[in-house]
Amino acid sequence: MVNHRSLFLTLSHSVGTLKSSLDVLSRNKVNLTKIESKPVRHSKEVFNFVVDVDEDVSNEQLDKAITELKQSKYCNEVKLLGGKSIPWFPRKLSDIDYFSSETLEAGAELESDHPGFTDSEYRNRRKHIAEIAKTYKINEPIPKVAYAKSEIDTWRIIYNELTALYPTYACEQYNYIFPLLMQNCGYSENNIPQLEDVSQFLQGVTGFRLRPVSGLLSARDFLNGLAFRVFHSTQYIRHHSVPFYTPEPDLVHELLGHAPLFADSDFADFSQQIGLASLGASDEDIEKLVRLYWYTVEFGVCVQNDKDGIPRNKAYGAGLLSSFGELKYSIDGIDVKTGNKPEYRPFDPEVACNHVYPITTYQPVYYVANSFDAMKDQMRKFASTKLNRPFALRYNPFTLSVDVLDSEDKLLTLTGTIQSNIDNLKYALEKIRQNKGLSFEYNENK
Ligand SMILES: [Fe+2]
Repeated sequence: MVNHRSLFLTLSHSVGTLKSSLDVLSRNKVNLTKIESKPVRHSKEVFNFVVDVDEDVSNEQLDKAITELKQSKYCNEVKLLGGKSIPWFPRKLSDIDYFSSETLEAGAELESDHPGFTDSEYRNRRKHIAEIAKTYKINEPIPKVAYAKSEIDTWRIIYNELTALYPTYACEQYNYIFPLLMQNCGYSENNIPQLEDVSQFLQGVTGFRLRPVSGLLSARDFLNGLAFRVFHSTQYIRHHSVPFYTPEPDLVHELLGHAPLFADSDFADFSQQIGLASLGASDEDIEKLVRLYWYTVEFGVCVQNDKDGIPRNKAYGAGLLSSFGELKYSIDGIDVKTGNKPEYRPFDPEVACNHVYPITTYQPVYYVANSFDAMKDQMRKFASTKLNRPFALRYNPFTLSVDVLDSEDKLLTLTGTIQSNIDNLKYALEKIRQNKGLSFEYNENK
């Protein structure tokens, strides 16, 4: 945990108040290392900012700046957060809506080297779709997008290439789930599935859900979403001119790469574990969790017995399952164009969390997991022993919220829940033993 000082500023919501506050800090030579906005849920009159103060700033300089800020008309409140401060984190599902306006880049603002940069029609389309995410609130149905013929044509090209590879290259869970998505969510070469349909399906099987996002979220916000079984998903498709390339996540990546495995309960639990570990984590620990996410959820490979009973590597990471070229490279073990070969290492969170990765080339190293179940155990152990968070959390699946376990009362309540689950487990076991050899028919129709 970094020992640092931050100022929590509540400013009146009018033009120039942030600039005026920053001017006060600048006049008093209070250098900053980070500025972050924190939305205020119930008021449009004020807004909050947290600024991290450089460690070289003296207490005297800081005190002077705080006094000046407190005397100003526009600064309603100044709080000094000192010592081991814990970053803000969402406590309940609806807190996730705070992220929606805090994307690092808006989805419509394209870089000059983006394939759609000079295409005004494409840029308008991106802007239109980004608006859906900006106004979306959790628990609302995700507005559907009527995809144009050209968008469906792009989808079809990639869909056909990738689905031909999945039986050989994708893990067995993926191949089990994919036909269910075809039956329930409209996955087909001629249709781009709607986020709402996929989200409903996932909620029904594992409680995971999709939430539209307009652009890139910060790593912390993105991982925090996973703690509540929320996956932030884009809703636009890449530019048609280069169907096998996209500089940022798009629908193909989300729907073919990510969404299917959130229907697997072990994988869903594992993803949520990364998310829970990120709540209130230090910046240093967030970096470790990002790398673990990268080597598993994005570029994970696992070993599974093939149809012939021989163990082989299979892809489960979304970056592989949505990329025709890297899917083959990661499993065949060679790039046919360059002759480059990846290295395979057994998945070990303690090693992978410190391993810096490239983002613009195929991965030189893949971490191979034994199973999703084993990954869950490894992750649980890693989060409880290798991260520096000074408190424990518990996810409450009934209220879709997290409790900080910081009092005896909360621990006693938790003990009661665990006891009741153990009693139920014993009861079920007894019934199975008593009824061995008997079969029951459960009436599905009322
Ligand atoms: Fe991704």
